Amino acid sequence: MNLIRTGILFLVAGCLGVLWAEPVTINIDADKPGAAIPSTMWGIFFEDINFGADGGLCAEKIKNRSFEFPDGLMGWTELKSAASGSLQILDSDPATPVNPHYLRLKADKAGYGVASDGFRGIGLQKRDEYVFSVTARKVGEGKPSLRIELVTPDGKVLAKENLAKFESKWTRSSLTLRPSATELHGRLRIVANAAGTADLDWVSLVPKKTWKDRPNGLRADAVQWLADLKPGFLRFPGGCIVEGRTLDVRYQWKKTIGKPEDRPLLINRWNDEFKHRPAPDYFQSFQLGFFEYFQLCEDIGAEPLPILNCGMACQFNSGELVPLDQLDPYIQDALDLIEFANGSADSTWGKIRADMGHAEPFGMKFLGVGNEQWGPQYIERYELFAKALKARYPNIQLVSAAGPSPDDERFHFLWPKLRELKADIVDEHCYANPEWFFDNAGRYDSYDRNGPKVFMGEYAAQSVKTVSPDNRNTWRCALSEAAFMTGLERNADVVVMASYAPLFAHEDLWQWRPNLIWFDNLQSYGTPNYYVQQLFSCNRGDFVLPVRIEGQPAATSKQPGLYVTAANDLISGQIILKVVNSADQAVVSEIRLHGVKSVEPKGTQILLTGKAADENSIASPKTVCPVVTTFSGAAVSFQRSFPPLSLTVLRLSVQD
Ligand code: AHR
Repeated sequence: MNLIRTGILFLVAGCLGVLWAEPVTINIDADKPGAAIPSTMWGIFFEDINFGADGGLCAEKIKNRSFEFPDGLMGWTELKSAASGSLQILDSDPATPVNPHYLRLKADKAGYGVASDGFRGIGLQKRDEYVFSVTARKVGEGKPSLRIELVTPDGKVLAKENLAKFESKWTRSSLTLRPSATELHGRLRIVANAAGTADLDWVSLVPKKTWKDRPNGLRADAVQWLADLKPGFLRFPGGCIVEGRTLDVRYQWKKTIGKPEDRPLLINRWNDEFKHRPAPDYFQSFQLGFFEYFQLCEDIGAEPLPILNCGMACQFNSGELVPLDQLDPYIQDALDLIEFANGSADSTWGKIRADMGHAEPFGMKFLGVGNEQWGPQYIERYELFAKALKARYPNIQLVSAAGPSPDDERFHFLWPKLRELKADIVDEHCYANPEWFFDNAGRYDSYDRNGPKVFMGEYAAQSVKTVSPDNRNTWRCALSEAAFMTGLERNADVVVMASYAPLFAHEDLWQWRPNLIWFDNLQSYGTPNYYVQQLFSCNRGDFVLPVRIEGQPAATSKQPGLYVTAANDLISGQIILKVVNSADQAVVSEIRLHGVKSVEPKGTQILLTGKAADENSIASPKTVCPVVTTFSGAAVSFQRSFPPLSLTVLRLSVQD
């Protein structure tokens, strides 16, 4: 019987021009479930890099809306034409003391004004509604009257409304605009209808359609991509942004909550990081602050995983350190954050959360101490944080840093120290070429089962090299990540969380590539890497099932072949098989399910495949995307051909 089957396989292999002379057999011990796969296994890493927050996830279209940038008119252009007037940035008697600057617009006659370019233009969708709002007052005895216009780059007016009621005290007013055409690079113009002077602050333009239709909310398409990942957790707010280039400009969560106008603007850490991709107009308005992050987690069903500064600025920059005897305020920030997230509505910080509209605690379970730190300086600081946090909140799982590389002297210094300290979860980072990912699917097979757990907190295959602006989100890179992820899933008893990084990038405003999701001012698309993440996350399963592959040596970058992982899914009663074929020929394989009585002949296949260099783009967003089909012929033992360069998910209904 086996001989006949082998003969058939050779025949099929011959017809399809496949790789292996010998048939490959995938044995799955369905009756021997191993490690539980945590619900947190596949998650999201969010950092405000590549204009991921302001100009990205945030629906707000106006950059420098409160004139707080060091160059107060950055992002704004004077509209002179035949009319004259003046624009002045002032801060006396401000509308909002924390962000005190505002614009004084003095028009000598009609036609003078100012225009916002948004974030390299303003995306406008035909007939959608956009809410314009401004905090304004009149100056002097005149009666200012302004016209608010949405225009194309060459000045064609797509929508306009008048704003004529001005009081002497600061007052917020709003109006709705409906553009008559779709425009990717629109502008907002504020034009005087007559001579007069007005002070303007918090100029805002937000589409009515946002995620969950929240006013001043998040871009619905961007959040949908996240929700569609069914992520186990959301790590925020980074990334190096947590650390800051110096301590002075580090991320401080307490300055990101409360009323938006009470959140002081801060330079974005990626503003001047790369000489080859300068972003002088990159600042953090914190309209996406810690409350909104927690809310987002709740919306998309992800465990919140905030990462806090541990008294160290970015070690790639200043590496500034808070002396150990002055670390208390940093530790207090962490303690207060736990109270903000989890405390009752009558606790000090829980009340602030409740006043922001969320009386119920957010139920935070994880907290990161530092981002990508290293050296004895980190261990000393981690120890102090861990002591204080565990004393008060023993159940919060702490995430500790393991440096920027998965295998250098910094990494090998930190791990034994963290093991000694009985750290909960260690955050490993890995930006490497695809070969590394193909070669490291077995990385965790030999990890200590009794030590700290692993969070593969940042990883992405680099088609050229780390921080190269030439890196691309190719299918080959995505496939190598898929191969590596089979190893993460197989080792779910050690690796309890993993997230690709970075998450978002604006097509015109990025600093770093590759990224998981790209967008412009109107549209967005998932990369091949996104679909790999989605296939793993949406087909997670509950317990790892042992897999033995016969007929091929362990696949590597030099010896391409199959990478396989299997899991059972308790609710559907299915076995989920994930198979990466890294070879550029099909691999015919016999799948044997041990320990099951029968298998429903109809199975579901989700196939992701492409050519090595394939990418998705705004113009062609689905070059590489999953195709779902049902197939017949599934059985306790059956054959499948895995196409060249593919990730296949098979879902099989079994009776045991
Ligand atoms: O993901 C981009 C950056 O890479 C992160 O900010 C940092 O943690 C890592 O070095």
